[in-house]
Amino acid sequence: MSFSVLSSTAELHRWRKHQQSSVYFVPTMGALHRAHGQLIKSVQGFGSLQPAAVLVSVFVNPLQFGPAEDFDSYPRDLEADCELASRSGASALWAPSVDQVFPGGASSQFRIQVPSHLQAHLCGASRPGHFDGVVTVVARLLALVRPEVLVLGEKDWQQLVILRHLVAQLGLPVRVHGVATVRDDDGLACSSRNRYLMTQQRQQALALPQLLARAARESQDGRAVDLAGLRCAWEQLGLEVEYVETVDAFNLQPLHAGRKLCLLAAAVRCGETRLIDHTFLMSRQPIVAIDGPAGAGKSTVTRAFAERLGLLYLDTGAMYRAVTWLTQQHDVDPHDPVAVKTILENLELELEPSQSGPQKVRINGHDVTEAIRSPEVTSSVSVVAAHGCVRKALTAQQQRMGVRGGLVAEGRDIGTAVFPDAELKVFLTASPAERARRRALDLDNRGFPVPDLAELETQIEERDRMDSTREVAPLRQAEDATELISDGMSIEEVIETLIDLFRVQVPEEVWPTPGS
Ligand code: CDP
Repeated sequence: MSFSVLSSTAELHRWRKHQQSSVYFVPTMGALHRAHGQLIKSVQGFGSLQPAAVLVSVFVNPLQFGPAEDFDSYPRDLEADCELASRSGASALWAPSVDQVFPGGASSQFRIQVPSHLQAHLCGASRPGHFDGVVTVVARLLALVRPEVLVLGEKDWQQLVILRHLVAQLGLPVRVHGVATVRDDDGLACSSRNRYLMTQQRQQALALPQLLARAARESQDGRAVDLAGLRCAWEQLGLEVEYVETVDAFNLQPLHAGRKLCLLAAAVRCGETRLIDHTFLMSRQPIVAIDGPAGAGKSTVTRAFAERLGLLYLDTGAMYRAVTWLTQQHDVDPHDPVAVKTILENLELELEPSQSGPQKVRINGHDVTEAIRSPEVTSSVSVVAAHGCVRKALTAQQQRMGVRGGLVAEGRDIGTAVFPDAELKVFLTASPAERARRRALDLDNRGFPVPDLAELETQIEERDRMDSTREVAPLRQAEDATELISDGMSIEEVIETLIDLFRVQVPEEVWPTPGS
């Protein structure tokens, strides 16, 4: 595979014009090391945009250094950078001059200002103007490179969060791909500045990751994080602590460990060298809630999404369908709550949560995986599902299945009633006409008779009406859910959108993508 070294913007534009495949952009300040190699390699297996061309930029951005910081002495070694980028699978390395990136000089540039709440803590507090410099240069580089995907490390977590906000708020046409912090065997997070550390200092510096990891373990056992204790322990070991803080991992506001994903982050000086590191504090593994009306294609995309991310898949509609099937077997009037309640006594509903393939459903020992998809079950499931006793029993069972997290559940009330504290909530929908078309295809594939589309649309709308007007846990979009309207989107596009939404809420370090 050929590897190009580009310096001028003209060379960059020429290279860009010849790319047939998607361009993944890895912006760096050079002095590349193993972790940069990992950013480049992480592109394999990310999304379906293969094959990809990876462009690495090397640009020591003057805008992000304070007057007393190490801009002049920042390590630069272009030859070694080219060697590492090429070895890791990059297609090109672009090393522009300051004039190429900022014609007229850095001081005559427009600057983008990061909202103060995003930089009031952590590195933002001690490096005024730093993140304004970062977002300004990244916006400029994105305009020049026009990549499909921007690849960033989670090591600089605050930077990643701020850049995600920049891309979302300005509506920049690029996906952001975060990559977990890469560590050396001794646990120190890889960083270009590590090369400044003497052997003895490196030993001292190890206390940074070690004590963070210990605090994370203790937090999992229910112990509060002792920030003052951490500060004191590092200082006793000769590290000068700039900050040690816990913040909400996404809005970067002060927070103590609890239900929300909490970032415990610190910056220390070891001699002259500034080091940062972090860990995440979490009370259980992540949960994704996908709700939406009938026939929106939830099962297909949710199952594939679960498989890609190694999450368990829970189809709660199958549980309501199974109970409905049982009422029909026993000739119980689905409208009669007392009769339906008797069905629930001694109910044994087993779901084999799966990471691939259909989830097996057994009720009182019968395998009903296929039977619950019949038009007869579909026609009365919304009536059965509206009874408070049915909802109570099934919700309790679903919550038991989700105690440890690590799952994606789909249904009608997952984000509102079953897992209101899910990390990600999506309301997946499509127009009734589109949903009727999808349902017709599904019925045909399963060998059931297919009514005409107008009739299917009426049936679907009636079920939506019943589901959204019932008294207990009606179908509605949770306030904090993202609406995803899938008309005109391919299945793959929906899955990738879900993965991107997931990654905004759940870092790779907390839930790694299998095989990455
Ligand atoms: O696949 P489809 O969209 O047709 O529906 P499903 O997910 O199999 O759900 C069937 C029915 O179960 C829904 O129409 C609801 O009445 C009920 N249901 C519910 O009430 N709450 C859930 N969490 C899931 C399903």
